[in-house]
Amino acid sequence: MTLLEEIPSETFREGSIPVLETKRLALRAPRLEDAKAVAALANDRRIAENTARIPHPYRVADAETFIAGANKAGGEGVFLVTLRDKTIIGACGIVNQEQGGELGYWLGVPYWGKGYATEALHAVIDYAFTDLGHEALQAGARVTNPASRRVLEKCGFQWTGVGLYRIRAINSSAPIDRFRLERRVWSAIKNWGRMTRVS
Ligand SMILES: CC(C)(COP(=O)(O)OP(=O)(O)OC[C@H]1O[C@@H](n2cnc3c(N)ncnc32)[C@H](O)[C@@H]1OP(=O)(O)O)[C@@H](O)C(=O)NCCC(=O)NCCS
Repeated sequence: MTLLEEIPSETFREGSIPVLETKRLALRAPRLEDAKAVAALANDRRIAENTARIPHPYRVADAETFIAGANKAGGEGVFLVTLRDKTIIGACGIVNQEQGGELGYWLGVPYWGKGYATEALHAVIDYAFTDLGHEALQAGARVTNPASRRVLEKCGFQWTGVGLYRIRAINSSAPIDRFRLERRVWSAIKNWGRMTRVS
C-alpha cells in the first residue's frame, strides 16, 4: 500500500533526491508548488480506497502535508511521476516500515493502463537497491486490486502471504496480498534497466 504520507523526520533531503529518467517519464522530488496538481489528481476515491493513507476527499492541504513530509528520512525516496513534458501524473517511492523499505505508488486515473506505473517502479526499484542500499523491498495490494498486483509481478515481486491493512479512506481494515522483492531476484531480472540518473 502506498505510504507516501506523514513521514516523520527532521531533515529535508530534496536536494539529495535525483531525477530519474525513463523512456517516457521523469521522476523527481515533490515540491510545495506541486500541491495543487497533486491534489487534483489524487482526489479520486478509486485511488484513495486502494492506498493506505490517502484520504478522500483529498485537498490541497493534504498534498502539502504529503510534500512537506517527503524525503526526510534516510533510506526513503519519494518521487512525483511526470511525463517528459513535465506534466505530473502521480507519485511513487520507498518509505521505511518495520520490515524494511516499502514501495508505494498511485497514478491519476487518466494515466492508467499505459504501462506508466510499471515503468516508474522499475526506476524506483533500481534506485532503492543501488542508491538507498535496501536488501529487500515490501509491497502490499488490496485483494480487490488486480492491476496493482500485476504491476508488482511485472517488477519481480513475489507473493508472501496475506494480511490486513488499515485503509484511511474507508475508515476500516481490508485484506491485502503481501509481496517481497529481494536483491538477488532484482539482480537477476534488472535488465529492464532503461533508467538514467540525471542529477
Ligand atoms: C495500480 C496502478 C498504479 C496501476 O497503474 P498503471 O499505469 O495502469 O499500471 P500498468 O499499466 O503499468 O500495469 C497494469 C497491469 O495491470 C493489468 N490490469 C489492469 N486492470 C486489471 C484487472 N482488472 N484485472 C487484471 N489485470 C489488470 C494491466 O493489463 C497491466 O498488465 P499487463 O501489462 O500485463 O497487461 C493504478 O491503477 C493506480 O494508481 N491505482 C490506484 C492506486 C493504487 O492501487 N496504488 C497501488 C497501491 S498497492
